[in-house]
Amino acid sequence: MSDHLSRAKRSDVHGGNLDATVFSSSRRVALKSRRRIWRMAALAAVFSVFALYLAWLEAYDAEPHRNDESPLGEAVAQATAPAASGRGPDLVKRGEYLARAGDCIACHTSDKGRPFAGGLAIATPFGTIYTPNITPDPDTGIGRWTEADFMRAMHEGIGKEGERLYPAFPYVGYTKVTDQDVQAIRAYLNTVVPVHYTPPSNDLRFPFNQRWLMVLWNLFNFDEGRFLPDPKQSAEWNRGAYLVEGLAHCEECHTPRNFMQGLKTSERFSGAIQAGWHAYNITPHKTSGIGDWSEQDVVSYLSTGVAHGRANAAGPMADVVSDSTQYLNREDLRSIATYLRSIKPVDRGESRMRAAWGSPASDVDAMRGTRVSGVNGAQLFLANCASCHHWTGEGVGASSPGAYPALLHNSVVGASDANNLAMVILHGVRRTTQDADVLMPGFERDLNDEQIAALANYVTGQFGNPRARVSADEVGRLRGLTP
Ligand code: HEC
Ligand code: HEC
Ligand code: HEC
Repeated sequence: MSDHLSRAKRSDVHGGNLDATVFSSSRRVALKSRRRIWRMAALAAVFSVFALYLAWLEAYDAEPHRNDESPLGEAVAQATAPAASGRGPDLVKRGEYLARAGDCIACHTSDKGRPFAGGLAIATPFGTIYTPNITPDPDTGIGRWTEADFMRAMHEGIGKEGERLYPAFPYVGYTKVTDQDVQAIRAYLNTVVPVHYTPPSNDLRFPFNQRWLMVLWNLFNFDEGRFLPDPKQSAEWNRGAYLVEGLAHCEECHTPRNFMQGLKTSERFSGAIQAGWHAYNITPHKTSGIGDWSEQDVVSYLSTGVAHGRANAAGPMADVVSDSTQYLNREDLRSIATYLRSIKPVDRGESRMRAAWGSPASDVDAMRGTRVSGVNGAQLFLANCASCHHWTGEGVGASSPGAYPALLHNSVVGASDANNLAMVILHGVRRTTQDADVLMPGFERDLNDEQIAALANYVTGQFGNPRARVSADEVGRLRGLTP
């Protein structure tokens, strides 16, 4: 359109020097293009109103509103019951547990030497947000915040001076956390080492640097209010729902987003891609989700990062396990599994479970003695991966903690896209739990885009879902994203 516009303008400018016919024809062009602009503007206006309407429907149709005033059954009390109550050391201890469940440290730490001091860059489609310092330092942290300020931030997404916070801070989930639990988290944060450090300021493009716009965002994407347990469900289910929907904010990664970057509540937990990583569909759908995972599989995955014969946690999920879920007690992990197994299954059209793909490779014999030319996935695999994962892809060390896992029956290799596989090859795997220090080296520096694409395509073809293909260009794009 702009090309059209500038062409019309140019003909207007030169029009005066030309004869009448040319002049009138150029005017006609200008008129026509002006009419076109109006038509486009009207269309855009209609479209925006329609989009807002759709977003409105989506935000308010999907789920009944939960609020504080509704009747509380026995399930209520149990779901949100403090593990230990009271003030002082008990409160602080409970706060520490809850802060872990909420994974505050993951986002509010950029340098492990100064936990909770913020400064981590969070890339959003609108620019970069740097997390604030939430240590009790009075000048650069939240030392001067009252309990009410803190409560308002967690429940309403509003900062100390009344400014709107960006939803990169998951207050959409934290609003569900009880007052008592928020108080416990504050009590704990008051005891961490105060760090005098001011994080860099945000680098957001106009108009996204206007905080007040979040008022509009909230209108469509935020439902303020504490968790309301469902008295028809068990106490265990309610506890799981309270954790998953609230503090643990699993949806922040696993639920797809609408065009405003709000959560699509109609497709909860059905998978989303963020910064290159695919946080898979974790609804109990039989082929697209984790429908055949047992309760024990979920508990094991969240506490160690490994569900044998199904999945290993890499990338952002490795951090969730390392910083957060490994610290949850058995009852809470079982509650999470109970809740996850009950949510609405979402079909993404996959024909087989991610972990149901794979048979051992047998192409090594065929390769013996042959000369390989060009970029060859099989050869790259033997040279770079087989020492740990075995040339058959069956892994080394079976199911002991810290084993080199089989690539057969692995969700990353069996997924319908090769995103996470390419990310694992680029950046490796790093995960620290009580069980094991897990480390796979990244190949970012050793292999180029073409080699990584060939390798990934060999791995999916041999050991996983052969339809998952990745191009060198796509690897290049993934390489450019911050890990
Ligand atoms: C997914 C990343 C993420 C997690 C997890 C997270 N935060 Fe934040 N938090 C942010 C970001 C980003 C901001 C800044 C938002 C802004 O600039 O508007 C923020 C802001 C805050 C603020 C406001 C501070 C200020 O100076 O304005 C508080 C308080 C806070 N977070 C507490 C917590 C607590 C407590 C937890 C754990 C229960 C937590 N956060 C977990 C990303 C996160
Ligand atoms: C920071 C983003 C993030 C958060 C928060 C998060 N996940 Fe994940 N999750 C991921 C990613 C990315 C993967 C894929 C990991 C991989 O490829 O190894 C994943 C994988 C999983 C899997 C394995 C699925 C499979 O088939 O391999 C389960 C189960 C899971 N997450 C459950 C949860 C639960 C429960 C929570 C909340 C307690 C949660 N996740 C919070 C990003 C996240
Ligand atoms: C030094 C040993 C080592 C090498 C070499 C190695 N890996 Fe790994 N790999 C690991 C370890 C350790 C894990 C993580 C196990 C865990 O999560 O418990 C892993 C995990 C994986 C996973 C599963 C990730 C997930 O999220 O489920 C894939 C896929 C993978 N490696 C592919 C490869 C490929 C392809 C290569 C060659 C480019 C390779 N590995 C080279 C040790 C290695």
